[in-house]
Amino acid sequence: MPSALPLADPAPADGLLPASAAAGADDRAFGVYLHVPFCRVRCGYCDFNTYTAEELRGARRSDFAGQAAEEVAFAARALDASGLPARAASTVFFGGGTPTMLPPADLAHMLAAVRDGFGLAPGAEVTTEANPDSVDAAGLRALADAGFTRVSFGMQSAVPSVLATLDRTHDPERVPLVVGWARDAGLAVSLDLIYGTPGESLDDWRTSLDTVLALEPDHVSAYALIVEEGTALARRIRSGELPAPDDDLQADMYDLADGLLEAAGLGWYEVSNWSRDAASRSRHNLAYWTGEDWWGVGPGAHSHVGGVRWWNVKHPAAYAQRIGSGASPAAGRETLDAPTRAVERVLLETRLADGMPLGRLAPAGRTAVAGLIADGLVVPGAALAGRVVLTRPGRLLADAVVRRLLPA
Ligand SMILES: C[S@@+](CC[C@H](N)C(=O)[O-])C[C@H]1O[C@@H](n2cnc3c(N)ncnc32)[C@H](O)[C@@H]1O
Ligand code: SF4
Repeated sequence: MPSALPLADPAPADGLLPASAAAGADDRAFGVYLHVPFCRVRCGYCDFNTYTAEELRGARRSDFAGQAAEEVAFAARALDASGLPARAASTVFFGGGTPTMLPPADLAHMLAAVRDGFGLAPGAEVTTEANPDSVDAAGLRALADAGFTRVSFGMQSAVPSVLATLDRTHDPERVPLVVGWARDAGLAVSLDLIYGTPGESLDDWRTSLDTVLALEPDHVSAYALIVEEGTALARRIRSGELPAPDDDLQADMYDLADGLLEAAGLGWYEVSNWSRDAASRSRHNLAYWTGEDWWGVGPGAHSHVGGVRWWNVKHPAAYAQRIGSGASPAAGRETLDAPTRAVERVLLETRLADGMPLGRLAPAGRTAVAGLIADGLVVPGAALAGRVVLTRPGRLLADAVVRRLLPA
């Protein structure tokens, strides 16, 4: 089952935000995340807030688009009544779960609700995640016609034995087909990969990377497999059926990924993300990492507006009940104080190729920068120009730098 929600203050039924949330809003981008919490089967490694048909407790997938559209309208009213300026959405992201479990017309309905409630900014980025076995050529064309600009496919691996360990149901031979259909429809293409699956060798990983590069995607996300508590994968590892991921092998896999992706013209811009050029970066994810504002629609979705963060009830049946009664679907919320916001900014922005303004750091962190330069971890010229920029990409490297920038 999905993981538990954080504990915090109750969220008001009217969704109104404190006055502090509006301060500086004109200078922040606004995005919308729509969480579509349905999957055909649950992959053994995944603890996302998603439900198979047997787990829906009476909630109906066919009702979901209408409920999400109602939350979008609720959001527009609540932000307006809270004194936030009207801002068109510069990014919209449908994630899951598997958004493409719903018919394209349902996704188009939800996007139309965003257009009605907020408007779409010129050149808005509109993405949907998709499983390779949940789309076809006509569906992708319908999404492009509805205003989608980008699709992110959960490819994970090109190697059948690795896909089997991950419980992935798609045939790897389908990936080139769906990428071609997406491109024919005029959609930008991103591919998600996972590395460090039990039993996956460095050669297996090279095969996946070579396969990805042959498909010439605009964007690649490569995530180290995380063994989440409570998942089937965690149980299989605990029982000894599968070996735990090996940190050293995962580090080698990361280096191989960065080397091959860079050589093929995909540059890193966040430690787990590479893109063909600056225009192909995920602007929606960048907005999360740089602390912009977004409203998260749907069960379990998280939102952030001006330092206020809240999250919705997790189960689709509970969500349907809240939306049906006209109340906010939020389960809890918290208002971040300035020191907590500053720490979050450092944690996230250190991982960006563009780095982070030195001004984000407390005096002890600024003092640490000289040592990081001396150790070759931070670019000296960038620091002189007022930014902390990693000398090379690396998840573990970024973690090590953060520990020194945020001394206890
Ligand atoms: C919501 S899924 C993407 C869409 C679709 N449901 C799919 O799986 O193809 C988001 C991505 O998170 C990544 N992910 C999920 N659980 C993970 C885990 N335990 N470790 C690493 N990556 C994970 C996968 O790469 C997946 O593509
Ligand atoms: S298809 Fe995606 S969201 Fe669904 S269980 Fe698998 S990884 Fe998780």
